[in-house]
Amino acid sequence: MLVALPGHFALLATLAGDPAGFAMGRVAAGEAEVLTLAVHPAARRCGLGVALMRGLMAESAGRGAAELFLEVSAANDAARALYAGLGAIVAGLRRRYYPDGSDALVLRLALSPCGATPGA
Ligand SMILES: CC(C)(COP(=O)(O)OP(=O)(O)OC[C@H]1O[C@@H](n2cnc3c(N)ncnc32)[C@H](O)[C@@H]1OP(=O)(O)O)[C@@H](O)C(=O)NCCC(=O)NCCS
Repeated sequence: MLVALPGHFALLATLAGDPAGFAMGRVAAGEAEVLTLAVHPAARRCGLGVALMRGLMAESAGRGAAELFLEVSAANDAARALYAGLGAIVAGLRRRYYPDGSDALVLRLALSPCGATPGA
């Protein structure tokens, strides 16, 4: 099981008591990575995605990470808007990374010891 691996962790978001979204991350050598983030289609635009990301950021900072990296499809407008709102910056590009041929943007979020992006 992935979350049983060293440095890996998962967060669950609920809405009215029901599971509505989850996120997984890992921390190694002072860097964190978002492995996955998803919110049930019926629960989107309720703030769960940003809450899960803030939880990942806080958990990563608490585990000693100074930066958090993630990959997002250049075609994923919803996720890109979410990450931009948190202060993520583009740190790299992986061309035709996804099966649909879209590019992956590598994003970076700087973490403060309390989990927030400095200045965001
Ligand atoms: C991306 C995803 C996690 C967002 O979850 P969510 O709970 O709907 O996001 P939030 O409600 O927290 O939205 C936070 C902000 O992100 C942006 N955003 C979210 N969905 C958006 C959309 N469909 N279009 C434009 N902006 C969007 C907005 O800025 C939003 O703030 P606002 O509602 O005040 O305008 C969700 O759409 C999802 O699960 N998508 C499929 C899986 C996926 O793409 N995961 C990310 C892989 S990198």
